[in-house]
Amino acid sequence: MIFETHAHYDDEAYDKDRDSLIRLLKEEGIAPIINVGASITSTKSTVKLAHDHSHVYAAAGVHPSEVEELEDKDIEWLRELAGDPKVIAIGEIGLDYHYDEPDREIQKIWFEKQLRLAKDIKLPIIVHTRDAAADTYEILRREEYRGIQGIIHCFSYSPEEADKYVKLGYHIGIGGVVTFKNGRKLQEIAKNIPLEKIVVETDCPYLAPEPYRGRRNSSAYLTYIIERIASLRNVSYEEIEKATYENAVALFGVRADG
Ligand code: NI
Repeated sequence: MIFETHAHYDDEAYDKDRDSLIRLLKEEGIAPIINVGASITSTKSTVKLAHDHSHVYAAAGVHPSEVEELEDKDIEWLRELAGDPKVIAIGEIGLDYHYDEPDREIQKIWFEKQLRLAKDIKLPIIVHTRDAAADTYEILRREEYRGIQGIIHCFSYSPEEADKYVKLGYHIGIGGVVTFKNGRKLQEIAKNIPLEKIVVETDCPYLAPEPYRGRRNSSAYLTYIIERIASLRNVSYEEIEKATYENAVALFGVRADG
């Protein structure tokens, strides 16, 4: 089985075939699937999807680009929602200085409020961080957030940065970029970091791997990502499939058979 740690099947790209596609994925050996919320609205649809499909689980949280809409009562709403057994992570949360909106200070405030929530309720986190390596690391390494586990999703920083997050205890989410010609940094990371810190993800509908780059992504294409990691590390496909599956099971506490 392949453990998909990051998908957005609530996206309108799947409006025509969402439920049949998700069912088919299980038959193809892709399970569990974590669908990741990125706003209040998408967190609601994520939890609904998790209730509709036994092999889909939910990450509840608000992406840095969407935090301007938040009020403190929303954090309480997330806390209640996290009591649902199908909610297994807080995410995606973090900092995005690429689009750089809203203001960085506002992004930091809501990243930290969601971090404190994750720590309180002892759920792992899924971190979105783009062009914000230094600030993300500076926050995650603070004493008050030690002990939180999680994934630095769609890792886009240098191998040196990857080592720092791994030393903090975080897993590195490796997706389609590892198959790209210009994905050299991520290839170096996939080759060299400890195997027990690697999980696989698509971030679908975005970032489809080669040979599907530019098209609608699907968790079925995780096979191309696993294949690439295996060839970079010079080990078998099966070894990477099994290791990344067990890494995610250890992190999130769920497996394909419930
Ligand atoms: Ni995402």
